[in-house]
Amino acid sequence: MTYFEEMRSKVEELRRKNDILILGIETSCDETSAAVVKNGRTVLSNRISSQIELHRQYGGVVPEIASRKHVETISPIIDEALEEAGIGFEQLDCIAVTFGPGLVGALLVGMSIAKALAYALRIPLIGVDHIEGHISANYIEHPNLQPPFLCLVVSGGHTHLVWVKDYGEYSLIGQTRDDAAGEAYDKVARALGLSYPGGPAIDAVAKQGDPETIYFPRAYMEEENFDFSFSGLKTAVLNYLNNLEQHGQSYSVADIAASFQQAVVDVLVDKTIKAAQKIGVTRIALAGGVAANSLLREYMKRKTEECGFEVYYPSPVLCTDNAAMIACAAYYRLMKGVFHDLYLTVEPSFSNIVNDRIQCG
Ligand code: KG4
Ligand code: ZN
Repeated sequence: MTYFEEMRSKVEELRRKNDILILGIETSCDETSAAVVKNGRTVLSNRISSQIELHRQYGGVVPEIASRKHVETISPIIDEALEEAGIGFEQLDCIAVTFGPGLVGALLVGMSIAKALAYALRIPLIGVDHIEGHISANYIEHPNLQPPFLCLVVSGGHTHLVWVKDYGEYSLIGQTRDDAAGEAYDKVARALGLSYPGGPAIDAVAKQGDPETIYFPRAYMEEENFDFSFSGLKTAVLNYLNNLEQHGQSYSVADIAASFQQAVVDVLVDKTIKAAQKIGVTRIALAGGVAANSLLREYMKRKTEECGFEVYYPSPVLCTDNAAMIACAAYYRLMKGVFHDLYLTVEPSFSNIVNDRIQCG
């Protein structure tokens, strides 16, 4: 029997097994994370080693440094995840790993160790789409949440409106045409002299500011178009700052941060609600690093409640990159009989979800 055939029969056995323990591995950007998740939704451990301090001095993630740090950290973090879960390698049923999108060198670190473990332990390997991972964080946080729902995925690299029709079945409703929402936060924060990562810094300082001081442009695109664009807003903030600086005028960082943030959140919330109304879903979920934003959470909750919709968001630690969400997504793939062979490659810019685009307007 080949390794592949052996795994195929293992997967069939696992689909009938009661308790399934999956080790999740996530190394797509600047967090090295390993988690043990039982039956998709019970997190036994979720260890996250952030590289933020390392990259802060450069004002953003340096890919080469990220890969090297993942190499150093990945084995100890897997050991910690197993220890915290109180299990040994031999109790694992499956290995889940992010295959993309993300930084190629960073992804390869997680992929290599995932393959080595799956082969050595003779258990199935499942490659997980990072965006699907972010969406799945909602299943962990809300044990009763089931598809269908509409998910706004907003992170440093992605801004996607995804219609989750069933487990593992997605249609892309809209996406950014230029910068991701988190990218806009990070770039504006840098211009305001705030430290990396910009999202949490703007979130904090905006609390002291007045969002009505400056009206920055909101890009709504054509009627019933659910794509986003944030580069015009980013440029408007940078021009506003340059203008003040050229004239030697002082300004309030808090007011600019609050006004910028309000512009981002207005568009994200309005478009999400309009898309939900258009496709006829009443449940909305948030996912990704920017979903940790306090204004977005509060505003989305208020606006969705006004429309009689239900809103779901993961706790902040499950919004930003973590391996528990990867193990969760893999569980639902496994239940459908999906697994990968050891030829699985990393996909720095490919996403399953982005491929299935439907026209809504
Ligand atoms: O999901 P994530 O950890 O990594 C990617 O997949 O990109 O998201 C990181 C992004 C960064 O751009 C960061 O500035 C943003 O999420 N972020 C926030 C907040 N916390 C993290 N943006 C706004 N408000 C926050 N509280
Ligand atoms: Zn992410």
